Amino acid sequence: MINSESLSQLFPSLEEIPAEHRLDAPIHQVSYVINGDMVPWTGATKTVLSPVCIRHADGSVTQAEIGSHPEMGVTESDQMLEAAVAAYNNGRGEWPTMGVAGRIDCMQAFVKQVVAQRTLIVKLIMWEVGKSLADSRKEFDRTVDYIQATVEALKEMDNANSRFIVVEGTIGQVRRTPLGVVLCMGPYNYPLNETFCTLIPALLMGNTIVFKPPQYGTLLFQPLLEAFRSAFPKGVINTIYAPGEVVVPHMLASGKINVLALIGSSRVADHLKKQHPKSNRLRAILGLDAKNAAIVLPDANLDLAVRECLLGALSFNGQRCTALKMLIVHRSIVDEFLGRLTVALGQLKVGMPWEPGVNITPLPGPHRSAYMTAAIDDATAQGARVINDGGGAFCSTLFYPALVYPVREGMKLYREEQFGPIVPVFAFDDVEEALQYVITSEHGQQVSVFSNDADMIGALVDPLVNQVCRVNINCQCQRGPDVFPFAGRKDSAEGTLSVSDALRAFSIRSMIATKQSEQSKAMLNTIVREHKSTFINTGFLL
Ligand code: G3H
Repeated sequence: MINSESLSQLFPSLEEIPAEHRLDAPIHQVSYVINGDMVPWTGATKTVLSPVCIRHADGSVTQAEIGSHPEMGVTESDQMLEAAVAAYNNGRGEWPTMGVAGRIDCMQAFVKQVVAQRTLIVKLIMWEVGKSLADSRKEFDRTVDYIQATVEALKEMDNANSRFIVVEGTIGQVRRTPLGVVLCMGPYNYPLNETFCTLIPALLMGNTIVFKPPQYGTLLFQPLLEAFRSAFPKGVINTIYAPGEVVVPHMLASGKINVLALIGSSRVADHLKKQHPKSNRLRAILGLDAKNAAIVLPDANLDLAVRECLLGALSFNGQRCTALKMLIVHRSIVDEFLGRLTVALGQLKVGMPWEPGVNITPLPGPHRSAYMTAAIDDATAQGARVINDGGGAFCSTLFYPALVYPVREGMKLYREEQFGPIVPVFAFDDVEEALQYVITSEHGQQVSVFSNDADMIGALVDPLVNQVCRVNINCQCQRGPDVFPFAGRKDSAEGTLSVSDALRAFSIRSMIATKQSEQSKAMLNTIVREHKSTFINTGFLL
């Protein structure tokens, strides 16, 4: 029987936490990096609570305290921003004028230090956001691979531009150049990976950075402070620890941010963009909300569809922007589908992030359990049912997944991005109903379709690719492999992120042009031969 009491038993007492998975000591971050210096912080601090709770002798549970970090304000955000502006120095700073080879060398020095911190960072991802140990390791390794792939893509891009082109009597050389100061903000669900998926390409292209770590997932950057400080010239990367709503609109209102890189909500992005006094100067690279649907057609392989839908909906408790957040199933198979899904869901292992094979782990705070409960209550008050035993039971941060059916227009779960362990389902009779759900959505990231009928899939793909940016056939929605374009329509994204697209997103093409005269040719040859310019060169990076 799954209920609050049984879930509370899944939290460990202090002694029950396996020694190898404990944090040796709480991480109290008492310094920060500014302008190439590690400076002691003596101001206010914020206590960091883990999603993991500790069970006490009296049966109560409380979130584990795992450390603290500086709690800054606008004075410090102004200092950070000034440091980034000074390091960029109108494009004349050491970093934006450094050749690509030099920047790559700095990045390699950084990666080396990152890799050396793997064990602690993985542990911190696990403790700070409640991600399973296996997935925390995956996140770390995927991020290191992403950085290496980005470096290779940059070499390729730069080499392709290391030549002159001659068109209609004009000689040109085109390269990608930085945009200025980038404000980088990542999400809590992939605190390392999604943050670095914007921060690393932004850096490599020669921009300078103000970085605000996610609300949950701040301490895990503490082991990287020394790497940030030592691998790059001073002021290139500056971390601000402060409530976003206090410092971020303030920084944008200064007009000194050139690029807003945000993985977060469309509501926040919408508000922030409006704060910049010169809207045409601000470029936005945004990964936002999504409500990806799976459409299961009558002839679908049900075992496959159930497996993929379960993975898609509940990996990392449904806390992925790409998660399947609505299942739309043909009425002729919906009972069979729900039956099998209920059985498969019942086999998921609920527990603490370090437990082998665990699927469902604690959420960031009790407020997330409260949101899930409110969404389910709203649906059941309007005629839906929780199909699976124990669905929606919770104890503090541990929330047992709920399969909710039938969900319909007017319920929160129909349109809101639940971003958690709830699987809403509705049935359709005519495939046009499923299409209309996607068409009328405010979101447009991805969709999954399940069918073995080539005619049906072919006919569905054509309208769907004009509604979303990836149609997954007989598989769940996901971002990877990371070389594929990751984009979204409507309120789901702005810009495209992939290994090579991100390099383009954080740069702009600039060129030199001259008439194809003997004099110009001689001058260009001299510049190249005598290395008189970083921009004008024909060198090849190996
Ligand atoms: O939260 C959004 C992530 O980028 C999703 O990545 O599909 O590989 O889990 P994923």
